[in-house]
Amino acid sequence: MSQQQDILRDAMRRLNLTRDAFSERLGIRRRALDTWLLPADSGESRAMPEMVGKFVAEILQREAQATAGADDRPLGQRIAAEGRPHLLSVAQFDRDSLEALFQVADVMQPIARRQKVTRVLEGAVLGSLFFEASTRTRVSFGAAFCRLGGTVCDTTGFTFSSMAKGESIYDTSRVMSGYVDALVVRHPEQGSVAEFARATNIPVINAGDGPGEHPSQAVLDLYTIQREFSRMGKLVDGTHVAMVGDLKYGRTVHSLIRLLSLYRGLKFTLIAPPSLEMPAYLLDLVARNGHVIEQTQSLEEGLRGADVVYATRIQKERFAGEEIEGYTPEFQIRKALVDALCKPDTILMHPLPRDGRPDANDLSIDLNHDPRLAIFRQTDNGIPVRMALFAVLMGVEHQVARSMRDAGWRSPAHIGPDDADFDGLD
Ligand code: NCD
Repeated sequence: MSQQQDILRDAMRRLNLTRDAFSERLGIRRRALDTWLLPADSGESRAMPEMVGKFVAEILQREAQATAGADDRPLGQRIAAEGRPHLLSVAQFDRDSLEALFQVADVMQPIARRQKVTRVLEGAVLGSLFFEASTRTRVSFGAAFCRLGGTVCDTTGFTFSSMAKGESIYDTSRVMSGYVDALVVRHPEQGSVAEFARATNIPVINAGDGPGEHPSQAVLDLYTIQREFSRMGKLVDGTHVAMVGDLKYGRTVHSLIRLLSLYRGLKFTLIAPPSLEMPAYLLDLVARNGHVIEQTQSLEEGLRGADVVYATRIQKERFAGEEIEGYTPEFQIRKALVDALCKPDTILMHPLPRDGRPDANDLSIDLNHDPRLAIFRQTDNGIPVRMALFAVLMGVEHQVARSMRDAGWRSPAHIGPDDADFDGLD
């Protein structure tokens, strides 16, 4: 049985309704809906009356009948890459399959928050191959697999791998497939993870292929935007997203802009120094989907009125001799600037790592206590989203809810020492 929070979130997503519109449809007060959506263990959470639950189920059933004929294959097949259970690009998603994945991520939340445990991947082994620097992506994929009951074997860097001896991607991938049940791969060359995937029938997830894509990051970014917006009563459709920094080599923004373009009527302001602008093929794709794009080099112009500010790090390691001009310290996103140009409900995101030095052109640390700063809620969401990806690609997503047991240990109510400042944001 799904929890009432998951049922309600799923219903709002499927009906594309804000909390206000949804409570109106149900004929209840918005405040009541808010309390039913709070985590079950929060003091203010209330059980939704049985009648309301029945009404929601009825609305969803009617909605399902109206969309009969929609793709009802297992989600892993719907998002497959050329018929295989890989995640190589966000192009594998449409809006329905993406939202179905979010529903699985919602089911994972109590496990990600250490209240519940499951062993649906007991006995399975993940091979984690990182040929480029990584902390959060590598550890969060590993932790997600472990929290599903699996175990992880990993290797990092070229130096300690056989690739340093001239081994091909094909051989490495085929060899690893004999040892493990799924692979997560990060590699500096665009297209290289797809090459790993062609050499194996076990699931392969692209954890970043050079300046190409970073699909799991974009999925967790959009999941974060949806959850933050749900709390604020906003929809992704029609929103204004500002992307700042290295839009040429930043693979996270490449994947995210493609995913966002599945929604309707967005406005993008792309703020980058002249040599680091978003590639033309992505601008074309977004424009073809009917969205508005404005490019600027001015933070003042680009940030004004944005609902989401997505900052990125300059990817110096990928520079092919470019000199960046015009990337002055004025590019730093400081609290004073956010206060002057953004709204009380703007959210500030970053794939991390950010450059936290005082004069860095990045998201300033003077925003650390500002509730609009969503970066740690964003990293926390990496766990349920990556658990959902593994569960879907390995076909166990329907076993999770019924397999959950209470965790046998206690974890702190707030994971970070400053998280209490954000209490009630859920
Ligand atoms: C990013 C990456 O590796 O693409 N980090 C991440 O995975 N969260 C961004 C970066 O390195 O700047």
